[in-house]
Amino acid sequence: MEQELDQLEAAALEELTQTHDLLQLESWRVRYLGKKSALTSILRGLASLADGKRKTVGARANAIKTSLHAELAEKKQSLSLRSLDESLENSSLDVTLPGRPLPYGRLHPITQDIAEICSVFADMGFQVLEGPEVERDYYNFEALNIPQNHPARDMFATLWVDSRDDSNARLLRTHTSPMQIRLMEQQKPPLRFVVPGRTYRYEATDATHDWMFHQVEGLAIDTDITLRDLKETLFEFCKNIFGRDTQVRFRCDYFPFVEPGGEVAIECVKCKGAGCRLCSGTGWLEILGTGMVHPDVLARCGIDPTVYSGFAFGMGVERISILRHGVDDIRLFYSNDFRFLRQF
Ligand code: PHE
Repeated sequence: MEQELDQLEAAALEELTQTHDLLQLESWRVRYLGKKSALTSILRGLASLADGKRKTVGARANAIKTSLHAELAEKKQSLSLRSLDESLENSSLDVTLPGRPLPYGRLHPITQDIAEICSVFADMGFQVLEGPEVERDYYNFEALNIPQNHPARDMFATLWVDSRDDSNARLLRTHTSPMQIRLMEQQKPPLRFVVPGRTYRYEATDATHDWMFHQVEGLAIDTDITLRDLKETLFEFCKNIFGRDTQVRFRCDYFPFVEPGGEVAIECVKCKGAGCRLCSGTGWLEILGTGMVHPDVLARCGIDPTVYSGFAFGMGVERISILRHGVDDIRLFYSNDFRFLRQF
């Protein structure tokens, strides 16, 4: 019996050297280690052997089984590696070629800046909301203390949807301020909102003007809001967007829907206040209009101006983007030139 086992092992090992692929290896395994193999039947028959014999034959048979399994595993690995090598060599796939880049999209620079502007205000407790681009005369002008024939209408060259003589006429909003009215009509104070969106003006385009641009409007109404809250909020905003050591200036300005009205300017990003072409020699760049909401506007929206007060502001997003990124022509934002857009 031991002799038989020796022969079996020798034959198995010899035959293993003749297996050249995984298929042959599998039939080798079935032949020498399978359920019907000679080795298995010897192991099964151990019980019928005499005591002394059972021990030696059993030990030998088990040792062969273990070693054949080890040989099998080793051969399997070397054959798999070889077949991988062969298929790599024979196929036309060159795994050393660099991958093809997948072009990926990104947000438009103006969209990115709007998101950043809104998040600065969101951190100060403002909610973000959008409104209609086609507005009624009432919201864009009338309710904001700009009745028919008011000279302030000249500040806003308007693109009309309907005839301008109709007091209910539709237009493309010239600013985001109509959303002040919609918000105050719809909700009770306290209110704290920023409203980003497109605005339109009937103007010739040049490096600093376009007929469509974006604004972010802000409105805060509560029982004890003062000019000091306005200044603090807007100064904090400027420092977040333009850097903490930016100089910020607050001056009076006129808008019919605020009293007092003001403008916020930052120190010129180019000349740092010395005076250059960008800032027309003044050293300052105006970035937004603001003021305390006019009592008549509050009253018109059903908010008691003897109880409540608030501030509003409106900024031009493209202007802020131009200053932040050193862009010298507003029209670049909408000309769809990838060489420009890829920089953001
Ligand atoms: N809507 C004004 C503009 O477009 C800006 C502004 C908003 C001013 C709110 C005061 C208060 O010029």
